[in-house]
Amino acid sequence: MSHTPKIYVAGHRGMVGSAIVRHLLVQGQPADRIVTRTHAELDLTNQVAVNQFFSAEKPDQVYLAAAKVGGIHANNTYPAEFIYQNLMMQANIIDAAFRNRVKKLLFLGSSCIYPKLAPQPIQEEALLTGTLEPTNEPYAIAKIAGIKLCESYNRQYGASQGIDYRSVMPTNLYGPGDNYHPENSHVIPALIRRFHEAKNNNALSVTIWGTGTPKREFLYVDDMAAACVHVMNLDKTTYDRHTQPMLSHINVGCGEDITIRQVAETIGKTVGYQGQITFDTSKPDGTLRKLMDSSRLNALGWKAHMGLEAGLHAAYQDFLTKYVNKN
Ligand SMILES: NC(=O)c1ccc[n+]([C@@H]2O[C@H](COP(=O)([O-])OP(=O)(O)OC[C@H]3O[C@@H](n4cnc5c(N)ncnc54)[C@H](OP(=O)(O)O)[C@@H]3O)[C@@H](O)[C@H]2O)c1
Repeated sequence: MSHTPKIYVAGHRGMVGSAIVRHLLVQGQPADRIVTRTHAELDLTNQVAVNQFFSAEKPDQVYLAAAKVGGIHANNTYPAEFIYQNLMMQANIIDAAFRNRVKKLLFLGSSCIYPKLAPQPIQEEALLTGTLEPTNEPYAIAKIAGIKLCESYNRQYGASQGIDYRSVMPTNLYGPGDNYHPENSHVIPALIRRFHEAKNNNALSVTIWGTGTPKREFLYVDDMAAACVHVMNLDKTTYDRHTQPMLSHINVGCGEDITIRQVAETIGKTVGYQGQITFDTSKPDGTLRKLMDSSRLNALGWKAHMGLEAGLHAAYQDFLTKYVNKN
């Protein structure tokens, strides 16, 4: 009889964690073999509580999608919380997983692990080759430590205990479960909200900061979840052939970047906004380009499926559900 793995998704109420749970269910994973805990039920920065949870539940696999996440303002204002909480959560989970004989774990990092001036598109090899973006350096250092925790446990215990802990580095994500807060949200949810409000208020124009020419890469969150499950389930021989023990993380992107102007115009169309889109060129543009090289993931047999227009449509429906419910 085949053994259905018991899977713990840490951060299951977050944008990515909830998408991973959705994807596992669609793939036929029984709901009663998915273990979750809310933040209120289990504070992952508490080592004793995390150890007790693992020893009681004994999961077979772990998706580590819990993290303290935020934009530039939050990262700049609370750097101690960002580095401390992320280091603690991942160290507690990875060590408790090892002590409780979890063989497979997937750690979620971020593209901010790469140097500010890394050559584009950014390859996995760019890790630790230069200075990080200062605004989120503490968060990035925690994420780099997460990759190195996985690699170190694999190197010390992989052969003797059969553990196989992997890491994925997503590009910018959007879609259901996103945060639409007016000040603390990422580009796509922020623009969805602004265009929606502009439409409702019959505003003649929406002004976007900068020239609109910087390019960014976006991935729909359900594609991200599918990539996570794909990487988790890859057989070890294939995974090992495409990675190295001390360079094991995998970029997850759609492989294409588009200008902020294109993003804004597509969101305006999706929302049904009829007014003008203008650009305030006196405001800074930020980094001109940020594209990940996802060829390692592509060679491992996965690529993104969701197109931007369809993804934005689904994201807008998600926003409407929340917006209408709240107002
Ligand atoms: N969203 C993106 O664009 C993006 C891009 C690249 C990488 N990522 C990575 O993907 C991962 C998930 O991100 P996300 O966007 O899904 O974040 P999210 O929506 O903020 O979800 C994070 C989850 O972690 C939980 N959590 C935080 N601190 C906790 C604690 N001390 N104990 C227990 N649970 C805790 C949160 O619960 P509470 O809300 O109750 O605290 C929340 O459910 C992160 O590692 C992030 O770096 C995300």
